[in-house]
Amino acid sequence: MSKAPKDIFQKCRDYRDTADARAQGFYPYFRSIEEPHGNYVICEGERKIMIGSNNYLGLAQDPRVVEAACEAIKKYGSGCTGSRLLNGTIKLHVELEEALADFLGRDAAILFSTGFFANQGALIALTEDGDAILCDRENHASIIDGCNFAPGKLIPFRHNSANSLENRLKRLPDEAGRVVILDGVFSMSGDIAELPEINTVAKRHHAAMYVDEAHSLGVLGRQGRGAVDHFGLNDEVEIVMGTFSKSLGSMGGFIAGDAQMIEYLKHRARCLIFTAALAPAVVGGVKKALELMQEETWRIDQLWKNTRKMHEGFKRIGFKIGSTQTPIVPILIGSEAKAFIFTQRLFEEGIFATPAIYPAVRYGEAIVRTSFMATHTDEDLDRVLEVFEKLARELGTFDDPAYANPGRRKNIFDFRLPDSVEEEAVRENGGSHSQNGSGLHAALSR
Ligand SMILES: Cc1ncc(COP(=O)(O)O)c(C=O)c1O
Repeated sequence: MSKAPKDIFQKCRDYRDTADARAQGFYPYFRSIEEPHGNYVICEGERKIMIGSNNYLGLAQDPRVVEAACEAIKKYGSGCTGSRLLNGTIKLHVELEEALADFLGRDAAILFSTGFFANQGALIALTEDGDAILCDRENHASIIDGCNFAPGKLIPFRHNSANSLENRLKRLPDEAGRVVILDGVFSMSGDIAELPEINTVAKRHHAAMYVDEAHSLGVLGRQGRGAVDHFGLNDEVEIVMGTFSKSLGSMGGFIAGDAQMIEYLKHRARCLIFTAALAPAVVGGVKKALELMQEETWRIDQLWKNTRKMHEGFKRIGFKIGSTQTPIVPILIGSEAKAFIFTQRLFEEGIFATPAIYPAVRYGEAIVRTSFMATHTDEDLDRVLEVFEKLARELGTFDDPAYANPGRRKNIFDFRLPDSVEEEAVRENGGSHSQNGSGLHAALSR
């Protein structure tokens, strides 16, 4: 009798990455929120200040946005039951596309069901065999996955380094088409992309520029137009991608650019053609949020006021917050286990945040990822700083060698120590986007 073939479910039965954290009461993911109120949520029956959300302008729960979503669902129903290409386009989709194109000063825009699909769909459709996609090493997972599925070849360059980019571009053969892609604001570090220098190098080597404005829309630029606008590069950057899942408080994504490119994507992007159109409620809500973002500029002003307060506050206490320049503030802890424990203690003290571990961040540099909103009150923010200071003392964060010397310690996986081979493999990789390391990264995949 022949041997039974491989059991595809064996890996699920063997999966232990979360078990120890759960057993010790430190598992930080998939927490169920009973009532979201923007700056705070009700979770396990208690009020928690929310500092783990991308609802930068506080628009996700705005009654006018909710009302617009309800109106759309009443008018168009709960779903579009088909692809945009076929039966799924409603007038609201077209109106939102026109509003986005107008806002960003572009010929046209096309909506995708998620930001993830927008990146994947565009990279797959726009590149061909032999083309090069020059990709910042800290770009979002949707870009990395898009590159991996695209016919063009992923060529990583050092984070935010125009020199590293130029070294890669110089070596490309003339026949290679080339596009440089990077996040406008990086989702874990909170860094702003060095777009002027990078664009100069890109243009010197005839490369197109593609900027993912997921975390910069509503945060940077005139009325929240994003990083490209912030640097005055609207005429230089050919492809602008954005999401609705952050400042615009909903879900979905888009690509904006010249009319012919958008026409091409509309008929070639498989992530658009072979999936259902965005639901009416989503489009109605986003359209309203986009209007409010432009009208109520106090939101962006307040977001920056809160951001400055938190940067200063965390630094004053002694936390390392890296090179962030934005409302995303990574609080370095170092050890993964300690980041989990810190997060659990925050939760017990009434603060909702999540840890980020390898490969969402570099190996050995686990953080508590915090992000701030226009609608946080001074009282919220003071309380957050007070609790962080108390916990750093209680947990000895600043005395921990993994904190003082992050990324260089062995055995930081205190929950389940890796065997030496596995650890060396991770270390050699130096924190790139390999699938090595704790499987918990999947729960946090950037
Ligand atoms: C930089 C960046 N790009 C793209 C995405 C994907 O966006 P969406 O949540 O709309 O799929 C995210 C989401 O986290 C992101 O941070």
